[in-house]
Amino acid sequence: MVRTMSVNRLSRYERIYQQLEKLIVGKSPTLDAAMATICAVLHAKMPHHSWTGFYYVASDDELHVGPYQGPLACQILKGSGVCLDAVRTNIPVVVRDVREYPGHIACDPRSRSDIVIPLMMDDSPVAVLDIDSDKVRQFSGEDIEPLERIVRLLEPLIP
Ligand code: SME
Repeated sequence: MVRTMSVNRLSRYERIYQQLEKLIVGKSPTLDAAMATICAVLHAKMPHHSWTGFYYVASDDELHVGPYQGPLACQILKGSGVCLDAVRTNIPVVVRDVREYPGHIACDPRSRSDIVIPLMMDDSPVAVLDIDSDKVRQFSGEDIEPLERIVRLLEPLIP
């Protein structure tokens, strides 16, 4: 994969990871508390984020919103959308323009691009990190590894 991500964003991910590691490892009492910390830091430090949050997997066609930063979130109670596609495939989903993504759920009509990272326990997703931007093409495959690394900080806290 030809690296197109800006050195700036790459180094910003590294700094964010270092900060979150100090804030979460051995410090966060619950999964929710750690998720809230991740949302707060990512949303504050990534200017292209318009929504940063987690959804818990209730079933393979229902997600319940967890900690988040940004405009009001919607509950996902019927089986479509980017988040549920990530839950069903157990793999991250990158959407460069949500207007071209069949079944995309626009909790915020200003949303234009999206990335979803599953939080896995054994081989099943227990939650997803969902990040929206109000600009198109703000995420690529190169955002997956740094975000998965951040989401893995939550694994020891899964009840
Ligand atoms: N866009 C997501 C729904 C969540 S909102 O973006 C916060 C989806 O299609 O699943």
